[in-house]
Amino acid sequence: MALRSILSKNTIARSVGLGLRLGHVRGLKTLSLPDLPYGYGALEPVISEEIMHLHHLKHHLTYVTNYNKALELLDVAMGKGDAQTVVKLQSLIKFNGGGHINHSIFWNNLAPTGEGGGEPPEGPLAGAIDKQFISLGKLIDKINAEGAALQGSGWVWLAFDKELGRLAVETTLNQDPLVTKKATLVPLLGVDVWEHAYYLQYKNVKQEYLSSIWKVMNWKYAGEVYDKSRS
Ligand SMILES: [Fe+2]
Repeated sequence: MALRSILSKNTIARSVGLGLRLGHVRGLKTLSLPDLPYGYGALEPVISEEIMHLHHLKHHLTYVTNYNKALELLDVAMGKGDAQTVVKLQSLIKFNGGGHINHSIFWNNLAPTGEGGGEPPEGPLAGAIDKQFISLGKLIDKINAEGAALQGSGWVWLAFDKELGRLAVETTLNQDPLVTKKATLVPLLGVDVWEHAYYLQYKNVKQEYLSSIWKVMNWKYAGEVYDKSRS
């Protein structure tokens, strides 16, 4: 799902209102929680229904709600010329906006087995992976190793660097979206390595989660983004 389509046409005034005057908020656009492209239990047994339910309806929704609230506060602060509050809100916007961006990609990165999940990439992306990483297996090993080594919460990505014209494996901390690392990086696949993504099922064995998630990886989606990012 294109991120553009996730942007709600609702004005901020229709969101979880903080009792702010319409004159301050008219024209801003809220985010809304995108639907999953499959059912909550569709990624079983790799990712449990309970995790998917909590991950989508609790964690992702919280990022959306808090981003919208921060935008409201930002709008008021800007109207007052309150530079201190404007600056203070940047971290909230980055964290919650990043959480929305990252999870919106993540849901599309995954697909049920039998509906493309786990099927290897084809076409130009497959060729680029073999050229740069020798094989798909070696690329997955690299992503898993970097994800396992990540201290604290974050993401590990397969990206296309539009400046260099090549693939890259990158990590970001917290909910930093990949664009904060380098503006020319386009995320093809992102693996959520926050504990909330796996702990209820895999406990502290992050490596097992990382090894298993490839069984439901949607390489077709990654290939489509790769083709678009090169055109
Ligand atoms: Fe997450």
